[in-house]
Amino acid sequence: MSGDASTVHTDGIPPDALSKVQEYLEPFHLSVEKLREVSARLRKDLVRGLGKHSHHKAPVKMLPTFVRATPDGTEKGDFLALDLGGTNFRVLHVRVVEEEQKVLKMDSQICAIPKEMMLGPGVQLFDHIAACLNDFLVSQNLKGQTLPLGFTFSFPCEQKEIDKSILIRWTKGFNCSGVEGEDVVKLLKEAIHRRGDYDIGSVAMVNDTVGTMMSCGYRDQSCEIGMIIGTGTNACYMEEIKNVRRVEGEDGRMCINTEWGGFGDDGCLKDIRTEFDVVVDETSINPGIHNFEKMISGMYLGEIVRLLLVRLTENKLLFEGRTSEALLTPDAFETKFMSEIEERDGGLENTQNILTELGLKWDSVDSRIVRLVCNAVSSRSARLCGAALATLANRIRVNRRLDHLKTTVGVDGTVYKKHPNFSEELRATVRLLAPDCDITFLVSEDGSGKGAAMVTAVAQRLAHQTQN
Ligand code: BGC
Repeated sequence: MSGDASTVHTDGIPPDALSKVQEYLEPFHLSVEKLREVSARLRKDLVRGLGKHSHHKAPVKMLPTFVRATPDGTEKGDFLALDLGGTNFRVLHVRVVEEEQKVLKMDSQICAIPKEMMLGPGVQLFDHIAACLNDFLVSQNLKGQTLPLGFTFSFPCEQKEIDKSILIRWTKGFNCSGVEGEDVVKLLKEAIHRRGDYDIGSVAMVNDTVGTMMSCGYRDQSCEIGMIIGTGTNACYMEEIKNVRRVEGEDGRMCINTEWGGFGDDGCLKDIRTEFDVVVDETSINPGIHNFEKMISGMYLGEIVRLLLVRLTENKLLFEGRTSEALLTPDAFETKFMSEIEERDGGLENTQNILTELGLKWDSVDSRIVRLVCNAVSSRSARLCGAALATLANRIRVNRRLDHLKTTVGVDGTVYKKHPNFSEELRATVRLLAPDCDITFLVSEDGSGKGAAMVTAVAQRLAHQTQN
């Protein structure tokens, strides 16, 4: 499957050097058999996460989202959306237009979150969010209106209701004190009340995967999976309520936020973790947490590559054995470099520019080896994601007792969108591991923001329907 890509990538490397380099890369090449095993382990973990008594200790949290329906195309109205999940925070004004079946972004504003704030007191973070929202309302002339608000908060939360959401733990480089174990909606409302100069309407809390699924769901009503492969990775899907033992009810479905990033946190992926994955985990701010995510997502891939490059250099397989200060600096090799390096045309030239930027003295074989390393790491990530997605698709098919499932996945995230072969490799893996599922991939634009508005809109539609 990755045959073509790796042949291209091995061109121009002398056989002797190639076989030595391959020794280091071998653990990154997962066979289809291994991927099947990984998928079978995840299948078991999905069940553990859903169980009434087993979910407390389950590494894959399978969090109920209280989203019980995908859009039916009749939703409408104006909404505010907040989107917090990476290094930026966004505020959006969104209009859902029924006649055109469109979710329109009327306007939006980005506020940077300084690194210190990501690690500081939670109160400071929420005051900053409330201040950004205020600036936006002023700039849009919306102050004085109390619009319903969708809050995309892309961290694992134990949701009690659509507007009550307890942060289980921070991920992706955030570690603000006083937020874990607290209701995030309450913290937001308290920050707004501390200011006392504006108010908001009803709030719906959403994970970014759910937002992505819901925003794609307005365009394609068979969209029942949402997947993110960006700074972090995760997926949600529509599960039968009777299988969600923690939630009352037998009929219908509920969207489950799998938090598949935590897969392997009980040690079940030990056999495929490399020594480089172990270092990435141990030097992160949350060791032992989100092992699967650390093998897959944008926050970590570049660092895995950097560690490999350092090792190859120390063993005289690169740059005549000479590292540089930049190469020895954690996180200096950015994940976005991998996309540039692996570009089909121009990839080698990009590699050479990047290596020069990193203060390395390279020759043409070095640049080819670097490209090979990037390919091994990105390819493993795509295949692991593919295996996980196949597990969800197979589960939905079996749940519904179908011989064949046709479904749509809404996808977002820079790794998926920007990397040249990632999506192709992911799909090829899904085809192999879920041969009875026919999956359409819909790339979401602004999904997490627009989707939060969509969740609020669907909740309003359902409330109206029950009233009438
Ligand atoms: C978080 C998820 C989120 C994912 C993608 C992970 O680190 O735990 O809640 O969906 O990143 O943003």
